[in-house]
Amino acid sequence: MRFDVVTLFPEVMEVYLQTGILGKAQESSRIEVHLHHLRDYTTDRHRTTDDEPYGGGGGMVMKPEPIFAAVESILEDSQGDVPVILLTPQGRVFDQAIARELAGSERIALICGRYEGVDERIREHLATDEISIGDYVLSGGELPAMVLIDSVSRLLPGVLGDSEATEKDSHTNGLLEHPHYTRPSVFRCWEVPEVLLSGDHARIAGWRVEQSLRRTLLRRPELLDQARLTDEERGILEELMQAEEEDSK
Ligand SMILES: C[S@@+](CC[C@H](N)C(=O)[O-])C[C@H]1O[C@@H](n2cnc3c(N)ncnc32)[C@H](O)[C@@H]1O
Repeated sequence: MRFDVVTLFPEVMEVYLQTGILGKAQESSRIEVHLHHLRDYTTDRHRTTDDEPYGGGGGMVMKPEPIFAAVESILEDSQGDVPVILLTPQGRVFDQAIARELAGSERIALICGRYEGVDERIREHLATDEISIGDYVLSGGELPAMVLIDSVSRLLPGVLGDSEATEKDSHTNGLLEHPHYTRPSVFRCWEVPEVLLSGDHARIAGWRVEQSLRRTLLRRPELLDQARLTDEERGILEELMQAEEEDSK
C-alpha cells in the first residue's frame, strides 16, 4: 500500500516512519510512504504556503494553490480513485473500523494542515474524506497522518509477524484486550495472577476472555453494544454484570 503525505514538516515524520514495524514494512515493500514538502509546489520567490484570513481575525490560513498543485501532481500517474484525506479536527472521528476500511485501499493521499487550517476550497473540491483523530486540537496534521499510517499499516498482510498479530488487540472484536504480565512473577510485592503461571492453556484462555470482558464492562461499557460476542462470552458477561450489580448494592 502506498501513502503520499503533503506536509510543511516532513522531517518530523521521518524518524517515526523509519522505526520498528513501519520501518520493517517499508524495507519489505509492504508499504511505501512518500513525504512531499509543500513548499516544493509553490511558484513564488518566497515559497509562500499561507496567507491572512479573508474577513480578518488572527492566525494564517493555508493557501489553496500549492496544496492543489501538490496533490494533482502526486496523483497524476495514479490509476483508479485514490482517497484524498484531509486531516482535520472537524472530520469523522478515526477508529479501528475506519482503519480497516482504509486498509482496503491500494493508495491514500494525506493532507496535513497547519496554522488555522486550510482554505475551505481544499475541503470542498480536493479532499474526498476528512478525518479527525479525536476531539482535541493539535498544531498540525503530521501526528494525525502518522496515527493513520501506523494503524492502517498494522492491518496489512505480512506487516506484523504471527506473534504480533492484531486479532486479539483491543478494538478488533469490539472489546478491550486482557492485561499482560511478564517476568518477574513477583515485582516488589505485586504478584502475577496464579493462573498465568499454571501452564494450563485452557484456564489461561478462559481467564483472558473474562478479563477482556471485565475490562470492557468497567472502562468502556458502550463498546459492548457493538461487540460480536460468542454465546459463551455472552454468558460470562451476564455473570460479570450480575456480580457488579451485587457489589454496588
Ligand atoms: C491548529 S489546527 C486548526 C484547527 C482549526 N482552526 C479548527 O478549529 O478546526 C491545524 C491543523 O492541525 C491538524 N489537526 C489538528 N487537530 C487535529 C485532529 N484532532 N485530527 C486531525 N487533524 C488535526 C489539521 O490538519 C489542522 O488543519
